[in-house]
Amino acid sequence: MLEEKETKIIQNPNKKDMEAIGRLLRDGGLVAIPTETVYGLGANGLDAEAMSRIYEAKGRPSDNPLILHVPDIEAVIPLVKEITPTAKALMEAFWPGPLTITLEKSDLVPDKATGGLSRVALRCPNHALCHDILQAAGVPIAAPSANLSGRPSPTTAAGVWHDMKGRIDLIVDAGPCQIGVESTVVECGQDAVTILRPGGITADMLRTVVKEVRYDTALQAGTAAPKAPGMKYKHYAPDAEMIGFVGAVGSVAKRMNEALTQIKAEGLDPYIAGLGFSKLASDTLPDRLMDNSKINNKVNNKQIRISRPLKLGLLVSEEVSLALAKEWQDLGLEKVNIISEGNNLSQSDTYGVLEGAGCQLKSVSYRGLDLVLVVYGKHNKAPALARVFYEALLYFNEEGVQGILAEGLSKDGLGMAVMNRMEKATAHRIIYTNNN
Ligand code: TXA
Ligand code: MG
Repeated sequence: MLEEKETKIIQNPNKKDMEAIGRLLRDGGLVAIPTETVYGLGANGLDAEAMSRIYEAKGRPSDNPLILHVPDIEAVIPLVKEITPTAKALMEAFWPGPLTITLEKSDLVPDKATGGLSRVALRCPNHALCHDILQAAGVPIAAPSANLSGRPSPTTAAGVWHDMKGRIDLIVDAGPCQIGVESTVVECGQDAVTILRPGGITADMLRTVVKEVRYDTALQAGTAAPKAPGMKYKHYAPDAEMIGFVGAVGSVAKRMNEALTQIKAEGLDPYIAGLGFSKLASDTLPDRLMDNSKINNKVNNKQIRISRPLKLGLLVSEEVSLALAKEWQDLGLEKVNIISEGNNLSQSDTYGVLEGAGCQLKSVSYRGLDLVLVVYGKHNKAPALARVFYEALLYFNEEGVQGILAEGLSKDGLGMAVMNRMEKATAHRIIYTNNN
């Protein structure tokens, strides 16, 4: 049984606070820390017992190894057998930054950190406060993303609080994370690197330092066992079923609009089944999303059936939202009714990052469907979508949507990392709209 903790939150820690945070970490406490990618759930990376508590707090499978966070390259020396020349070149080029490198571990690193693997994953985050915490702790900090296993990674302290309240000792709140998706994980060979998880440092960036850069074959085919154990699990999943749409603005808007019309007529499950994707397992849906459209009520002892409109989340670019609105007008539906907008939202604190990043949030009723719209920024701009992707999924969870239609983008640069997360969140249900 997990012991209930009183989770504290701290902002702008002073020198004394930093010493206390460092001590808490050294002594085996669990502290959520900010980084430039996502919030991490930190514990002493040399203390097997402290790391067991990370697995407990997250409900994480024990074969999924942790990343050890360090303040600089020197701090890596005692943790590995050797910093190979390729690894050194990568560290010098990209640290501090969103690049995690696996190297053969030394005996100092407990097996708990690596899930029994011989290699340990190492990362030096590019975040001033995180750097200060690592200095104050004086030990490497093991930190997976600070979410419950399988859920979207938090990019705000509020997101951490949602999943980790009562499970950890402290959350250090430094505002929204800059990048929004996790670091690139690479295995470093003698003169080649293999990308095990795409992230903030792209293949092209790596190629400026190392000649041969390849992707773990499991990333593409999804068949072979991935080399990063974490990549085999269902990840980043919102509560609702999600479908991705990738293509030019007009074709994405057209297919989304068709989808909305069809979902309205037939419901979400038949729509998904009709796309040729495997039928969704509705028994994996949380109770609160089950059959929400038809709620039985007893009034004066008479059973009455209230039909509620299906509620869908839409994550789209500005251009696609405009094209959708135009289609709605063409269909004589210009009276799109804005229920709430911007800072009227009750969740505006929690989802401040969405608004802070220039997102527009709207609830609209369209043909009897309730649509929760998140407009993320310009079409095909990966950094904009990366920054808000997880937060949008958490927002849709909070809104209790039953399905999500999300616009994806091309796999260039950071787009590769975003689409890797979207493939997982949609269980590979992505429609390429230009092709048909
Ligand atoms: O940006 C990030 O990397 C964030 C922040 C907090 O630093 N951390 C993060 O950790 O995403 P986590 O635990 O959610 O993901 C770590 C990934 C997993 O897919 C894991 O399997 C892989 O790295 N990994 C860790 N150690 C490994 C190793 N020795 N060999 C192969 N893969 C490893
Ligand atoms: Mg994670």
